[in-house]
Amino acid sequence: MCGIIACVGTDDAVDTVLTGLNNLEYRGYDSAGIAVQNGRELVVRKQAGQVSELTGSFVESLPESTTGIGHTRWSTHGPPTDDNAHPHTSRSGDVAVVHNGVISNYGPLREELEELGYEFTSDTDTEVIPHLVDRYLDEGLDADVAFRRAIERLEGSYAIAMMIEGENLIRAARQGSPLVVGLHDDAHYLASDVPAFLEFTDRVIYLEDGDLVTVDADSLSITDLDGEPVERELDTVDWNPEETGKGGYDHYMLKEIESQPEALANTIRGRIDPEEPAVILEEFPAGSFEGITDVHLVACGTSYHAALYGARLLDEAGLRVRTTRASEYTSIVPDPEHTLVVAVTQSGETADTLGALRAARETGARTLALTNVVGSTAAREADDALYIRAGPEIGVAATKTFSSQVATLTLLVERIRQDAETATEREDLAAFLRALDVLPDQIEEVIRISRAQALSSAYEGRESYFFIGHRLLHPVALEGALKFKEITYEHAEGFASGELKHGPLALVTPGTPVFALFDGVHDEKTRTNATEARARGAEIIAIAASERDVDAFADELLMIPDTHPDLSGLLSNVQLQLVSYYTARLLERPIDKPRNLAKSVTVE
Ligand code: F6R
Repeated sequence: MCGIIACVGTDDAVDTVLTGLNNLEYRGYDSAGIAVQNGRELVVRKQAGQVSELTGSFVESLPESTTGIGHTRWSTHGPPTDDNAHPHTSRSGDVAVVHNGVISNYGPLREELEELGYEFTSDTDTEVIPHLVDRYLDEGLDADVAFRRAIERLEGSYAIAMMIEGENLIRAARQGSPLVVGLHDDAHYLASDVPAFLEFTDRVIYLEDGDLVTVDADSLSITDLDGEPVERELDTVDWNPEETGKGGYDHYMLKEIESQPEALANTIRGRIDPEEPAVILEEFPAGSFEGITDVHLVACGTSYHAALYGARLLDEAGLRVRTTRASEYTSIVPDPEHTLVVAVTQSGETADTLGALRAARETGARTLALTNVVGSTAAREADDALYIRAGPEIGVAATKTFSSQVATLTLLVERIRQDAETATEREDLAAFLRALDVLPDQIEEVIRISRAQALSSAYEGRESYFFIGHRLLHPVALEGALKFKEITYEHAEGFASGELKHGPLALVTPGTPVFALFDGVHDEKTRTNATEARARGAEIIAIAASERDVDAFADELLMIPDTHPDLSGLLSNVQLQLVSYYTARLLERPIDKPRNLAKSVTVE
């Protein structure tokens, strides 16, 4: 949520910052801005609108520079206007700041500064930062101390990068919002997320809360708020820069849907042995979950749907399980000693999920982050991390990461049930793992045979779209509806099949499309409820492996290959992703950047 990028020591700071902003735009896209300097003058350009609009004379007139900062915004304080766009500057224009997060005490700070004669030109919380630095510089403090003093005054969450006119260096600070340093031989980068600078370097340092950084072209220093040096590890990122490009596709979303076979193969590689049969999670050798009787899952949005999938499997294995939307998490953990709290989060930076994770930690329960991003806040704060290995996901709508989350959760569930005394063992483990092993190929087949595009044209323009499923297909129905509304802006709802008749059926009118999911085994409820909806005029689109099972009541069929019933949802979901994608495309929606949304929601 909001993306920041900074560079120092590059040949062309304007170009580097714009590249970073383009790579980060999934974090927010209602306004954007850039500031550069060449050691003499500091120049700022910013405006409402998308990064792609920072073109022509708007940026061409910027001076040749080696140092720059940039920002792409998702509004929290104040609407998306030119004035509210970042960077924000001090009254002299000498200090420029970009910020991601929320300064919760900006009200009193603003009053204090206004009393001192500072005039504010925006509605943002961020603007207090350059004014604070300016104030301390005016008091005669040196720039390092002035920056530290300003940061000390801030409450809330922030990743901040700042430039001062005349200095070819960047100062930055992190508290509660992600910030990572990229290191190159003669340049340094700072960004909210690694894809921002992945084409320049793969050597990174993930900063921790409370860290302050000063970088110039050849040196880097990290300190705490008292100015004491802090050591942080250097990591190498194993993502490929090409993964962050569109690769010839019109949209990241389609690219990411179609890269699911590869992403899923990465997720399971080396983690299953169908012949043994065994699940091998290097991070969790046998005995790792001994004593666990209760599992709590916390997550938001799509990740919450993945969590529901995992929870159902845990429940059926005899564990006590609770799944909570992270924003609603109550840290009531009756038996913390035997409880594992799993935070499911693609980005590892979602504020609501981090809040729940921290609350869970305070109870003394063991915590685990199931995430895509190595070194993310969730991964670092939880007792353990389990990576889904899906590769970078840029489209705001989560697609491949849902598949990889679910697959990883199925493996985690197997590991837990092998260790937990209260759990039952899976009797068909070999069959399940064999099915998982071929799932990447089956997803490829779904993509090849899908009639989603044709079907989307046939059903375009209906008033509402419903999605129903039973057992593990219930979370997939919820996910299908979320994706549909998120990128098409059409009304869509997902339900447990059996729930339709308890209220939502009132919304069914002639022609209402109902997407009904079948796994070939647990289908009775969905069949009955789809039939009831059809009797009221609904048109049923079955997603199933066999025509035979649905012929009697379905108007349309989206085929999936035959698989284990516990994995069928991963195949149906790909069909639903494609339906959403092609419907949104027909409606000419901005698919990768749906209105009002952003990837990685780092505010509560
Ligand atoms: C929907 C979507 C969101 C995220 C949610 C949690 O397509 O992407 O609902 O799933 O914001 O994000 P993470 O998984 O990063 O915690």
